[in-house]
Amino acid sequence: MSLIQSFLKVLVPLITSALVLAFWNRASLSSVPGTTTTVSEEHKPIIPSSGSWGTWFNSHQYTQPNTSQASGKDWNIFHHLGGNGPWVENIHEKAASRLEIPEGCSIDQVHLISRHGERYPTRSVGNRHLMFLRRIKDTGFALNGSLAFLQNWTYITDDPENDFGELTRTGPYAGTLSSFSKGVQFRTRYGHLIPNSIQTRLWASDSGHVIETARHFASGFFGLDWEVSYKAELQIIPETFERGADTLTPGNTCHKYLEDTIHGHDNGQEALARFQESYTPAIADRLMHEGNFGLKELSSMEVYAMQEMCGFEIMARGSSPWCQVFTEQDWQHFEYARDLIHYYRAGPCNPYSGAMGWLWLNATTGLLRDGPEAGSLFFSFVHDGDIAPFITALGVLGSEEHLPITRVVADRMWRTSSILPMGTRVTLERMSCSAANDQSYVRVNINDRIMPLPFCKSGPGVSCSLGHFMDYVHQRRAEVGHFAEVCGLQGDAGSISFLHQK
Ligand SMILES: *[C@@H]1O[C@H](CO)[C@@H](O)[C@H](O)[C@H]1NC(C)=O
Ligand SMILES: *[C@@H]1O[C@H](CO)[C@@H](O)[C@H](O)[C@H]1NC(C)=O
Ligand SMILES: *[C@@H]1O[C@H](CO)[C@@H](O)[C@H](O)[C@H]1NC(C)=O
Ligand SMILES: *[C@@H]1O[C@H](CO)[C@@H](O)[C@H](O)[C@H]1NC(C)=O
Repeated sequence: MSLIQSFLKVLVPLITSALVLAFWNRASLSSVPGTTTTVSEEHKPIIPSSGSWGTWFNSHQYTQPNTSQASGKDWNIFHHLGGNGPWVENIHEKAASRLEIPEGCSIDQVHLISRHGERYPTRSVGNRHLMFLRRIKDTGFALNGSLAFLQNWTYITDDPENDFGELTRTGPYAGTLSSFSKGVQFRTRYGHLIPNSIQTRLWASDSGHVIETARHFASGFFGLDWEVSYKAELQIIPETFERGADTLTPGNTCHKYLEDTIHGHDNGQEALARFQESYTPAIADRLMHEGNFGLKELSSMEVYAMQEMCGFEIMARGSSPWCQVFTEQDWQHFEYARDLIHYYRAGPCNPYSGAMGWLWLNATTGLLRDGPEAGSLFFSFVHDGDIAPFITALGVLGSEEHLPITRVVADRMWRTSSILPMGTRVTLERMSCSAANDQSYVRVNINDRIMPLPFCKSGPGVSCSLGHFMDYVHQRRAEVGHFAEVCGLQGDAGSISFLHQK
């Protein structure tokens, strides 16, 4: 037996059992009161204990924390991490309750744009955490009150050099596991669309953790032999500037977006910083009064960094003592801060974002028009900063709302926690419906909930007729502007050329 074969022999049962655990974990998560999931009593899954996950960690490295994240009974921290936490189902108030394929309809083509799986902090975010922890250590004081756990706590990785920016590989919410399991879920719903004789292409932008996500997904969807058996082929699309419009990562090719420090990419960071100033001082004050005056002060960035560590630790270890340090209100503020950064950086309040996101929308609309003749499976893997522009171009959350930077707007549409968690999956399903004279319809599924398009939802299962959808996309081009013009690119910026199966 070759080394690879014996390796697979060990790996497959491991992945399978891990998957089962993760699945039940999530099943229990989504049945938390306050979410929109409705599971009738008789169909309730039997939930085996998932508590044993804690015992898999080396106890010298890590003492199992209080896993009860909830402080109120309708409260689930996973839905308030603002994209900085494990994948969760969409509980947006505009999401439809059902995912079923309407009667008389069948899916004949599917498009996915996916965020990479759960990962460690990026280098800049992680270094901020380490700087804070070093400062505490250097004071030489033990911390008190709700920060006392730090006496025995270790950072989420002891190898930051190698781990920062990479998929997490441990615990029930590991990015490796969730990417594989997403492939299995897609196989379950779309397996009938796998072509018999031709190789299926899939696409990843050129970042290690994005590529790794796509590879785990492909293994779950096509099987571990997807490459050697020529079932599928992964194409890596460079994230470089000179690609112009022929890109999966338009935020790297839109010249003005990068250069305009007021309204471009940096706009999000600015909004975030201003909001941090408004909510963190009260938290700092509270933590200092718990007997921590030895710290001298806690800056806005430090308070925010502590909140970030809750989500990042969950992704690496399954739970985190940081989550209990903060109140529900503190988390609502953190969540709003995360909404602001995305909304202003690459969402509807950024003047470049719609034109950036329209590129993939346009290419995908061409494929929806051509139908299964053009291929049936189109899976692309990118970053959150590429999905926010797509959602903006699509206008599925409405296109305009004013999000103030000084106070939380409770009834806002833009909910990063529901629409951009790690592993986000936005799919467009093309359906052919015999009940409607074989007409074609399109539906948008964001994180396992159908999001009806505000402008077009009268088709079966709140879908939109294909003709209507195409007209709308055409009209959106006028509204969001032409990519090359908006971005200040000279000459022919091109268009997405790689998104095809034939
Ligand atoms: C765990 O945390 C919750 C929420 O903070 C708290 O209500 C509960 O008492 C804690 N349990 C233990 C064993 O410390
Ligand atoms: C830290 O660990 C030591 C040794 O296990 C224990 O005695 C101590 O109570 C722990 N401190 C905190 C704050 O958990
Ligand atoms: C925590 O309390 C102890 C005992 O009162 C004190 O010596 C120490 O300085 C306090 N820690 C901080 C960070 O203030
Ligand atoms: C829009 O998509 C069509 C394919 O349907 C393509 O021919 C065209 O170049 C695209 N336009 C832009 C600006 O990307």
